[in-house]
Amino acid sequence: MQKSSTTSKILLDFDPEAANLLPALKKINVAFRYISEVDAEKVAEYFELPLAKVYETASFYDLLETKKPAILEIEVCSGGDCTLGESAGIIKEIENRYRIKTGDEFNPKVRLKKISCLGRCSEGPIMIVNGKVYEKMTASGVHKILGEWG
Ligand code: FES
Repeated sequence: MQKSSTTSKILLDFDPEAANLLPALKKINVAFRYISEVDAEKVAEYFELPLAKVYETASFYDLLETKKPAILEIEVCSGGDCTLGESAGIIKEIENRYRIKTGDEFNPKVRLKKISCLGRCSEGPIMIVNGKVYEKMTASGVHKILGEWG
């Protein structure tokens, strides 16, 4: 199946009204793990909105990506409750494991990003690896989970 035809099919699930822009972007992001330039253009055309508006919306929300994902995408919640937990220690362990810095956009293999509260504070600290959510994380538990991802 062609990626572009899938994007077009996704868009057909939505009436081309501005209120549906975010839900459509979320669905595209789930399907491809990011919103490519080509997809953003299709969305802008479909909703008859300026391309800048599509990017503005996509870049406002932490859960939407506009950059091609690395092989391993790791997100750690840095909301208040998770930070009170162990999220700083978790981030440090990940940075040391891969010799990366949080927010480095240019590593093609591993990318680590802090994200805002997901509203799952009682299950935190939360870590997400390629879309899979891990709850009640500890700094010492990071390596076992990341080892499963290669
Ligand atoms: S602070 Fe992490 S889920 Fe709320």
